[in-house]
Order: sequence, then C-alpha cells, then structure tokens
Amino acid sequence: MSQPIPAKSTHEQPPVHIAMIMDGNGRWAAQRGLPRLAGHRAGTENLRRVIKACANQGIQYLTIYAFSTENWGRPSEEVEGLMHILSEFIDSELEELHRSGVQIRHIGRIDRMDEKIRAKVERAVQITRENQRLILCVAWNYGGRDEIVYAVQRLIEEGRKAEEIDGDLIAQHLFTAGIPDPDLIIRTSGEMRTSNFLTWQSAYSEWYFTPILWPDFDEQELQKALEDFNQRDRRFGRLSTSGC
Ligand code: IPE
Ligand code: IPE
Ligand code: MG
Repeated sequence: MSQPIPAKSTHEQPPVHIAMIMDGNGRWAAQRGLPRLAGHRAGTENLRRVIKACANQGIQYLTIYAFSTENWGRPSEEVEGLMHILSEFIDSELEELHRSGVQIRHIGRIDRMDEKIRAKVERAVQITRENQRLILCVAWNYGGRDEIVYAVQRLIEEGRKAEEIDGDLIAQHLFTAGIPDPDLIIRTSGEMRTSNFLTWQSAYSEWYFTPILWPDFDEQELQKALEDFNQRDRRFGRLSTSGC
C-alpha cells in the first residue's frame, strides 16, 4: 500500500516580520553606465514603494538593512553620499510615513553618525513612536556581531551574574528588543550570505534569495517571496505538523 501524501504545510498568515537585505544598487547603476550613487537613489525610490506594499500586505514589522558596520570601508564619497541620501529620505518621507501610520525605529549604533543626521533620525523615531500600522526598523550602522558585543558590554555594566544570563535577557539587550524575530529574510542581487545581518535574530528565519537587483525588487517580486514563504515547513527542530 502506498503511503498517503502528507498535506503540504502552508501558512495561512502572512509573515509578521520581514527583513530585507537591499543589495545590488551598485550593479544596477553599473549596468546603466551610471555612478553608484545613482543606484542608491534608485534603491531609495524603490524602498518607498516596498514600504507601501508591505503595509498593504498587512506586514507588521519590516526591517531594512541600509548601512552595515562594514560599509564604512567603502570610499568616502560613497559613504558621504549614502548619509546624504538617508538625510534626504527622512526630509522627504517623514510626513507621509507618519500620516500612513508607520513607526520608525533605528537599529545599530547611532553614535558614529554626523550630529545633524543623528538628530533627524532621533526626531523621526520620536514623532512616529505611537504609530502601529507598520513598524519600520532601519538598520543603519548596524552589524549583527557588533550588536551582540554591545549587549554583552551592557550586561556587564549592569553587573549581571553569570547565572542570570539566558537567551531572553540577551534578546532584551539587543537593538531589536521587543521586536519579534524575522519570519522571512529576503536578500536581493543573487548574493547568498548574511553579511552580518540579524545574526542572533535569524536563527530560525526563512531565507529567500533572489537575483533581482534591489531597485527592481517590486511588488510582484515581493508577492513571489511571500508565496515561496507560504510553502515553507517551519519545524523549529521539531517534526512537521504532518508528522514527517
Ligand atoms: C546595497 O547595494 C546598498 C548598500 C550596501 C548601502 P550595494 O551598494 O552593495 O550594491 P552592489 O552590491 O555593489 O551591487
Ligand atoms: C549588505 O550588503 C549591507 C547592506 C545591504 C546595507 P553589502 O553589499 O555591503 O554586503 P557584501 O559586501 O556583499 O557582503
Ligand atoms: Mg552589495
């Protein structure tokens, strides 16, 4: 007798938290003979669309990797250009984001930012703090290892005893304290690595890699990622709900 085919384990709910590694801006520009910063501008335009699409899909948390602790190693014109683009993005988008119920959070080290940009980021976080439609976590000057080092330093400063330390306490000392772990992490541009993103939080995330470059990652591509996620069987080390 043949074995019954187990029912496909699908999720009826969309992911609560999606994180995105917005990669491929430089290659997008190079393909068009444009400077890298033109790619970053196109990527920022796309971000505006993706935020809307996620809000419309009922996603509660969207984390975007915008500048890593390693990105300081790029030429200074590119780093300065990226800082400028962030600053412009806040100036042009804050009002609309606030109106549409988006809460802005920053994850990463704010201390190495230029004073003016830092003040803008802090203001954006402050103004939008009560919004609940979509929580947008902007990973800027963020590194997963740096986040863990910083958490350990704070635990030591607080005088914690070894026996007090557990996973929950560490999670409460990360930049993402209070934010559920990402269900789905999308990386564009075909690279298949984590590049120091959400090192702790991604332990049981589903990963989706696509060759599409970030400026071209549109609502249709998001839909494909969500459909792919729907087919995943998240076992968390246990057995499938179908018993297999
Ligand atoms: C991602 O695009 C944006 C940042 C890292 C700031 P890249 O700039 O890494 O683009 P590629 O990978 O060179 O194409
Ligand atoms: C990861 O992309 C960082 C961001 C998207 C902000 P990178 O382009 O910096 O990563 P690597 O160098 O390819 O690993
Ligand atoms: Mg890249």
